[in-house]
Amino acid sequence: MKASKILPASETAIAEAARLLAEGRLVGIPTETVYGLAADATNPDAVRQIFATKGRPENNPLIVHVESIDSALRYVQMDATDWLADRWKRATEFWPGPLTIVMPHGGKVIREVTAGSETVAIRVPSHPVMRSLLERCPFPIAAPSANRSNYVSPTRAEHVAESLGENVALVLDGGPCGWGLESTIIRPTATGVELLRPGGITAEDLKRVFGSVEMPAAKPDSGLGQGKAESVPMAAPGMLAKHYSPSKPLYQIGVSAPEPGCQSAVARITFSPLPPAEASAFGWYRTLSEHGDLREVAQNLFAALRDADASQCDLIIIDQCERSGIGQAIMDRIDRACR
Ligand code: TXA
Ligand code: MG
Repeated sequence: MKASKILPASETAIAEAARLLAEGRLVGIPTETVYGLAADATNPDAVRQIFATKGRPENNPLIVHVESIDSALRYVQMDATDWLADRWKRATEFWPGPLTIVMPHGGKVIREVTAGSETVAIRVPSHPVMRSLLERCPFPIAAPSANRSNYVSPTRAEHVAESLGENVALVLDGGPCGWGLESTIIRPTATGVELLRPGGITAEDLKRVFGSVEMPAAKPDSGLGQGKAESVPMAAPGMLAKHYSPSKPLYQIGVSAPEPGCQSAVARITFSPLPPAEASAFGWYRTLSEHGDLREVAQNLFAALRDADASQCDLIIIDQCERSGIGQAIMDRIDRACR
């Protein structure tokens, strides 16, 4: 597949991206979480191209990105329940940033974006390139992560250009993503919020603001949303058990890893450096942080999974960490990639 065009995200390139989006084309864009595959969220044909390009099931809705809380208000229905305005006010204090809020839309968002759901997932990103792009566009931007459906999310412009090819008119290169994991997704409830996807805004951050944070269980069926009932909205989109997988089998150290016959067949990813003698036994090796810093682990995780996948090795073995703070989001992605 021919790679798509990448341009450093200068003002001129951002202006070109805005023009392409207005023409109904797709553009790869940097955000503070991961790279997105952007389209004009009000253009049904453009939004349909996102699904075709990613190979994404049509009943899996997209996140709508806007430049401010005021613009977000145009797409949500605030009076659906008497507690919604309170939850909204608290949640939007995390904006701009890596938090997506699921709200009733009251018919204000096209069905190609919501996939027939009565709710819309909405976010004000903080990345300066994405903000500049949103300011130039007189429409909101629909954008899933810019990977083929079920593959690892992209955190570098090259990841987008290599995997999605010419359907993407342009990829804006804004450098590596700061968070490296997709946004936290929450849904307001009568008692607080539900955490649908852990991310950079942690359960602890949310607990401080909302008091109660519920975590619904992941759906066990890895095939959910594929095939059968694509006309039916997903019960809990974003919660598929299997997601983000590299093509090679991935194991967590000490849990499920098979005894490798030969360590040279193993690509080993650690969260802090191994002693050189130990590291050199593996066929491929990378540490995600020099000092075991989990923010760095998150930032470098997806690029390492992609590179390990492209190595000569047969399987990948990765470290684990405590499932709290940003560690919850890191282990959530690794758990899903292992299944
Ligand atoms: O960080 C991010 O969120 C990135 C950047 C580009 O913003 N986007 C992203 O989009 O990760 P995507 O489509 O790869 O993941 C969004 C998740 C999907 O799992 C989808 O099912 C869920 O959000 N989602 C979208 N609309 C929803 C809704 N109305 N209710 C519940 N979940 C929803
Ligand atoms: Mg995704």
